[in-house]
Amino acid sequence: MAWTRVCLVDEVPPGEAFTLDVDPPVAVFNIDGEYFATAATCTHEKQSLADGYLDGDTVECPAHFARFCLRTGRALSTPARHQIQTYAVRVEGDAIYADL
Ligand code: FES
Repeated sequence: MAWTRVCLVDEVPPGEAFTLDVDPPVAVFNIDGEYFATAATCTHEKQSLADGYLDGDTVECPAHFARFCLRTGRALSTPARHQIQTYAVRVEGDAIYADL
């Protein structure tokens, strides 16, 4: 595990997500100024959750609408059965870091 710079704060406005193109990809979500980092790929199929719909602290996959908790990674609805990885996040200066 290592703190990795993901993006600038300005690159992920409230209600949006930023994808870091690493293997596996990581998404940072901004929920009203609180940042969450998770695996970017849905555990059902290979759809990017960064393109999903945010609702509170959950994201809904745009492909088949499985929902995940961004705080715990837990899959909240089918067709996803497995949780997504979550990562600790910290903001330092104007950048967002995740413990990957
Ligand atoms: S790819 Fe996400 S629910 Fe199917």
